[in-house]
Amino acid sequence: MPTDDIFRGDRSRASDFVFDQQVVNVFDDMVARSVPFYAEQQKLIQTIVSRFSNQGRIVDLGCSTGTTLLNLSSVTDASLCGYDNSQAMLNQARLNATEHGVIDRIDFRNADLNGDLDDLDLNNTDVTLLCWTLQFIRPLRRDALVGQIYRALNNGGALIVTDRVLTNDTSMNRYFLDFYYDHKRANGYSNEEIINKREALENVLIPYRVDENIELFRRNGFQIVETFFQWFNFAGFLCIKNNRAAIRDQRG
Ligand SMILES: C[S@@+](CC[C@H](N)C(=O)[O-])C[C@H]1O[C@@H](n2cnc3c(N)ncnc32)[C@H](O)[C@@H]1O
Repeated sequence: MPTDDIFRGDRSRASDFVFDQQVVNVFDDMVARSVPFYAEQQKLIQTIVSRFSNQGRIVDLGCSTGTTLLNLSSVTDASLCGYDNSQAMLNQARLNATEHGVIDRIDFRNADLNGDLDDLDLNNTDVTLLCWTLQFIRPLRRDALVGQIYRALNNGGALIVTDRVLTNDTSMNRYFLDFYYDHKRANGYSNEEIINKREALENVLIPYRVDENIELFRRNGFQIVETFFQWFNFAGFLCIKNNRAAIRDQRG
């Protein structure tokens, strides 16, 4: 796996971050070293999908190199679909799926989640994933996206969201970021790389607080919203549409 050295020494990369070919080439190393407990969160996602997959489709929005879908291909027989607006990411995802022998099972498509959402086919979905992607969607577009996901989900279906989050008390953001940067240093990133990337992401990655995210999911229809993971400034949310067990209980 090529090493992520994109922000080493080169101040020119400190312009806005984009998911271009240079990022794609090192992306798997980047997420493994930058997202705390990335592998463990992938396992939690597999556990949730196994439970909520019920003959419908699984759709991954912001699928990048396809890692999440490749992992899911071993735990579900469901039809799998990944969307991204980086053609370089989609090309790499197709290569990875081919290498894993699952290219026939995964449909990779190009769509802009900030754009016309009619381009997204979310019909008959049991699980929709937004893993470290909602934070890159313009805040003004997030309601439209979550609402569209909710309307298209099958009853009893789930939306899984993992993202960076802000603290409730703003004075704690500094501490959580310090803990996060310690984690990145422990994974081999230098102070210079951390600062350069932070500057590049400043206008691009816009995190919400946990309660702001929960409110976003609830006001767009999700009846049940729970956090299933948190490590300082990273959180995972499980949002359920018309919980099947609850409906069964109501019917007696
Ligand atoms: C941090 S990566 C997601 C990682 C991936 N979900 C995983 O589990 O490893 C964010 C992805 O979202 C995509 N993305 C960002 N903005 C987008 C948009 N407006 N429409 C579609 N995809 C977008 C990027 O190209 C990138 O592949």
